[in-house]
Amino acid sequence: MTLTQPPPTQLQSLIDTYTDRTRRSKVLAAANRAVLADKTAIGYAFAPEIKEMRYPIVAARSQGARLWDVDGNEYIDILMGLGTNLLGHNPPFIKAAIAAQLDQGMAIGPQSAIVGEVAQLVSDLTGLERVTFSNTGTEAVMTAVRIARTATRRRKIAIFTNSYHGHFDAALMRAPLSEYARKKAVRSLQQKPGLSPLGGFLKNFLGTRAVPAALGIPPAVAKDVLVLEYGNPKSLDVIKTHRRQLAAVLVEPVQSRCPELQPRDFLQALRDLTQATGIALIFDEMVTGFRVHPGGAQAHFGLQADLATYSKIAGGGLPLSVIAGQARWMDHIDGGPWQFGDDSAPRVPTTFFAGTFCKHPLSLAAAQATLQHLKAQGPELQHTLNQRTKDLVDRLNAFTASTVMPVKFTQFGSFFAIALTQSQIPPSTLTLLSYHLLNQGIHLRGGDRGGFLSTAHTPDDIDRIYTAFCHALTALKEANDV
Ligand SMILES: Cc1ncc(COP(=O)(O)O)c(C=O)c1O
Repeated sequence: MTLTQPPPTQLQSLIDTYTDRTRRSKVLAAANRAVLADKTAIGYAFAPEIKEMRYPIVAARSQGARLWDVDGNEYIDILMGLGTNLLGHNPPFIKAAIAAQLDQGMAIGPQSAIVGEVAQLVSDLTGLERVTFSNTGTEAVMTAVRIARTATRRRKIAIFTNSYHGHFDAALMRAPLSEYARKKAVRSLQQKPGLSPLGGFLKNFLGTRAVPAALGIPPAVAKDVLVLEYGNPKSLDVIKTHRRQLAAVLVEPVQSRCPELQPRDFLQALRDLTQATGIALIFDEMVTGFRVHPGGAQAHFGLQADLATYSKIAGGGLPLSVIAGQARWMDHIDGGPWQFGDDSAPRVPTTFFAGTFCKHPLSLAAAQATLQHLKAQGPELQHTLNQRTKDLVDRLNAFTASTVMPVKFTQFGSFFAIALTQSQIPPSTLTLLSYHLLNQGIHLRGGDRGGFLSTAHTPDDIDRIYTAFCHALTALKEANDV
């Protein structure tokens, strides 16, 4: 008797195709597992049903908008160094700048000959008066918060739901009830007779309390953090109430996790309020900086923060982050400018700021080349790229509308993504979507719902990205996943 095997499910075919294409990446992940503690292998959460394809693609090389893996697959990259490679991978002029500096050596400790020019370039592009350098985004935001606390002698900071500011303790805070849990509870209460007023109350309730968002963070740290709802004018009232305790309001002006929320009026009101109350307004421009406009989200929204933090694009592919701001705040790094040959001296008290690798010569060389290029090109570079991204998103939205899929794409600058608040697509489906894209030669991380375009992406590349998304969504629709 012969038994006929049932046809593989769509999920099984997806897993088979992916694991077949990327055998060497999988072998390397398995070989490294015992010694390498690596979160990239499991993403945000371990999911047993897709365990067999939970491993990162191992890159062999990258150039322009392309990336090649160790199995020889070629991808159009939309991860683009997590938003770092605005000008594509490995632009020849940045490579040449790094090579020239490498030739000169990597003297860490003595002053760099170009650090002043790089600071001036940041100041010219952003309009902020004074600048200092660190290595990662996390470090930069942590430092900006410390400057704000030093200058104001206040302890509390306010952050907003859905923002990400890196992985220092005070930034890894969330509201006690996640947005998702709150909406679910509201829906369930509103459906129960007699409990509907409670649902209405919960819907309008604006909490402020913070709880640690990860294990290992002391609850005591949460006492000095307010977590508020982004874009909600009631959050401004809370800030006003706490104005005497608040050192800073920390904002990711357009959040990577919710790029469809671009609250211009809210930001302007926040600027006015923080100005009036002496609270530092810190713009975390890690993703938006130099991307949406040479002057970042501040130029886009037509306002200026007290302090702003940058990384990603600024370092030209090498680790570099920037803390920049108006002199009255930044002077707390070094006491403020003074001159030789007279009796001038630092005027304001300083906080502690240091780091072995801050101002690394290779990173500064890459930053100098990148920022000089951005300055020379002017806002037209971002304008053209942003428009290309918008065109892609418009086409994708026309596709989902014509096929009656409850999925909407959005973009800010050259970052585009599925807008979760305007779509009905469960997280597990988003993960499958990313693997469908990988199987079609579009590179992103498992679970990503969009990515970045760069100046290296050609119209043909963008067509291929569009087609791959359409095929992936169609496959998911056929499997009833969307
Ligand atoms: C808005 C924002 N702030 C801070 C960070 C932290 O930067 P890093 O990963 O370099 O520490 C990130 C990282 O993506 C970010 O997107």
